[in-house]
Amino acid sequence: MAQSKNPKPASEWIEDEVPSKLPIIPLVSSVLFPGGVLSLQVGIDRNVRLLKSIPDEQNLIAAFCQKSGDKENPRPEDLSQIGVLAAIVQRLPLSSDRYQIFLQGRQRVELVHMLQQDPYFIGQLRDVAPKPIPKTVKVETLMNKAMSLFEKLVESDSKYSNELLNILRMNMAEGPDTFADLLSSFVNFPLEEKQLLLETVHPIERLEMLVDWIQRDLGKATFDKELQKQIQSSIDRRERDNYLREQLRVIQDELGDSSAADREADTYRDRVEVLPIAEEHKQTLRREVNRLSQLSPSSSDYSVIKGHLDTIFQIPWAEKTEDQLDLQKAEQILDQRHHGLEKVKERVLEFLAVLKLKGDLKGPILCFVGPPGVGKTSLGAAIADALGRKFVRMAVGGVTDESEIRGHRKTYIGAMPGKLIQSAIQVGVNNPLIMIDEIDKIGKDFRGDPSSALLEVLDPKQNHAFVDRYIEIPYDLSHTLFIATANMLDTIPSPLRDRMEVIRLSGYTENEKLAIATKHLIPELLENHGLDPNQVAFTDEALLSTIRDHTAESGVRNLERKLATVMRKVARKVASGAGQEQYAVDAKDLEAYLGLPSYEHEFAERHPEIGVTTGLAWTQYGGEIMFIEATRMAGSGRTTVTGQLGDVMRESVTAAYSYVRSKASDLEIADKVFTESDIHIHFPAGAIPKDGPSAGVAIATCIASVMGDRPVRHDVAMTGEITLRGKVLSVGGIKEKVMAAQRANIKTVLLPEGNRKDLTEVPEEVKKGLNFVFAARVEDVWKESLIPLYVARANDRKYDEAEYRAEQKGKQKKIDRERPEVR
Ligand SMILES: Nc1ncnc2c1ncn2[C@@H]1O[C@H](COP(=O)(O)OP(=O)(O)OP(=O)(O)O)[C@@H](O)[C@H]1O
Ligand SMILES: [Mg+2]
Repeated sequence: MAQSKNPKPASEWIEDEVPSKLPIIPLVSSVLFPGGVLSLQVGIDRNVRLLKSIPDEQNLIAAFCQKSGDKENPRPEDLSQIGVLAAIVQRLPLSSDRYQIFLQGRQRVELVHMLQQDPYFIGQLRDVAPKPIPKTVKVETLMNKAMSLFEKLVESDSKYSNELLNILRMNMAEGPDTFADLLSSFVNFPLEEKQLLLETVHPIERLEMLVDWIQRDLGKATFDKELQKQIQSSIDRRERDNYLREQLRVIQDELGDSSAADREADTYRDRVEVLPIAEEHKQTLRREVNRLSQLSPSSSDYSVIKGHLDTIFQIPWAEKTEDQLDLQKAEQILDQRHHGLEKVKERVLEFLAVLKLKGDLKGPILCFVGPPGVGKTSLGAAIADALGRKFVRMAVGGVTDESEIRGHRKTYIGAMPGKLIQSAIQVGVNNPLIMIDEIDKIGKDFRGDPSSALLEVLDPKQNHAFVDRYIEIPYDLSHTLFIATANMLDTIPSPLRDRMEVIRLSGYTENEKLAIATKHLIPELLENHGLDPNQVAFTDEALLSTIRDHTAESGVRNLERKLATVMRKVARKVASGAGQEQYAVDAKDLEAYLGLPSYEHEFAERHPEIGVTTGLAWTQYGGEIMFIEATRMAGSGRTTVTGQLGDVMRESVTAAYSYVRSKASDLEIADKVFTESDIHIHFPAGAIPKDGPSAGVAIATCIASVMGDRPVRHDVAMTGEITLRGKVLSVGGIKEKVMAAQRANIKTVLLPEGNRKDLTEVPEEVKKGLNFVFAARVEDVWKESLIPLYVARANDRKYDEAEYRAEQKGKQKKIDRERPEVR
């Protein structure tokens, strides 16, 4: 409904005799004044009936404001006493029971008596139009005043259009009554005020009311404008987000209202009192709350303090879970969740037993070390379950800023507590098991040394009062059980390493992986993919092929991924309804699910080559085979080394080169070969940094091969450090290296004599297919790996294992005599 701005000029009106009885239409959200026009949508049943009952030629009705009651079903007492006689100037049917009508107000009438209530009102009416009053000076002044105030209002409030002023000016001559009614229909006053204007019959009284109220609105409009200006000047472009809050603040200041902030501060006060912390810290917090109550909620200080307090209330200062240290149950849980890992589980159970007897955690911290996907994290979670503790992972890999552990000072923008407090908040208890993941990848830079912060955290003598810089209140970490994980030991800062008891998880054999896949990974994946336990069955061949041809790893991470890929594809078939009930995955189906094998047994295609040796390396991903390549060209005795080597490895190259040169005559290499050629040694996977001395023998063999033109057996892999005198020294990671050799289908593994004892760690099933040779000197290595010169030459560098073995057995001496001349 809208009040029209363009009524018929009053002069065109025809004075109506007020009929003594008329149908009455109730108006719920507007007031119609004499001279005003109102557009109404009529859809309520009573009103539609009313309209239908009025013939087109008799178009007069009465409009009365409905002050109360039900819109659809008003009672007579819900209507105002004074209303307007109105003409229906137009009626447009919108549908069979909906009309749009235009009413034009004619004159004030009073409802004397309600003659009919249903189906619509019919009332007996009385004319209450005012008598014309003379235009005295007083009246004129009043009219002018109202006019000029209204002009100002139109100017300052964009809701009014300028057009209204023209209409008013045109009608000023009609006298105060018409003028006041027009003005009344223009102003945006509340409904009750408008009704009051209608009920005020005397034009001068009406004008006085109008002057008052316009003045009031004008004040409000000016205030709004000023508010706008004030805000505009105080906000920076970037602070536009704060616009609304700022507006609120100005309004609150204006109203002297800060009760919301006060209430908030009161809640905080109560919460501080119940915190289980020392009185001195409570005192600090009380001061903070007091400051909060004095600040405006929109200020940045307010949100900083509030954020700080909120964080403190979230910390589990004293919440605990009950420990349930039942060793038998613990063993059960560990066995249920993890296949194999016997020694590891044993060690863990011992640890738990000590924990149970001692009743405190003041012992060394366990650190699981091993390649990815061997179950370090999941073992930690299982231990937590066995103890009935909550588990939370805290990743410290790549952390180089001490503040990430110890928190940022409150004064920093965006300050936060450190990872420890965050973890505590996350689990919500103060005796969880926190797994410090990737402790070997923790860094250090100009922003301090995070490992020194960890040192304090892990120290049972200090950690009962760990102070986070943001929180500033000591937090007791002594009930927290810490377990660390790492891929490598070497990079863990040594003070940290000394605090920890290392438990190694070295990787799984094929059979172990097979069992893990069948017993753990597949059932879990089936469940995660919403498949039934028997819906997908893998044959052992399929699993072995997945393990061998589609993954090459120590753990089972990629295996899990590949199996998940198969599950997803099956799940899709099942979901689309296109598949059968059960799926058997055999080795021959794998290609359809996983594509071509990513790890071909490249070994099959390899053959002995000059200048390529197979080294065994131990990286954070477990054991790996690593090819070392060398090539020789005319030159002046220079060596180039590439492949991102560390200093230790470079020195190995220099030592190996010197040793090979010193043994030139034994190797039947003319000395000029060294002076007249350059060699380039490259360690492939050039993007991965490598270091350590354990490639010594492989490098020496590579140099001997390229200098002496003798191919290296491709099925031999080796590891060992060498000295300048050609001794082979023992190295680490034997188990992992041997397992990697087996994965790569190597036949012979060359190990330092000193590592013979380490072979006991290697699972039997891995050892079974391998031939082990232990070397005390580099010559032993050469004897086994370099194809003898005579064979190399006789066969035009083609090498045949059977022939070689046969020759080695009996013909050695004979051939030795026929040895071609030394170059
Ligand atoms: N012995 C095992 N028995 C059953 N499941 C295992 C075993 N070892 C690993 N898994 C499963 O393999 C997956 C990977 O293990 P997890 O995430 O614990 O490896 P991780 O050693 O922590 O690796 P990362 O060094 O990459 O963090 C998990 O789903 C885990 O349950
Ligand atoms: Mg992990």
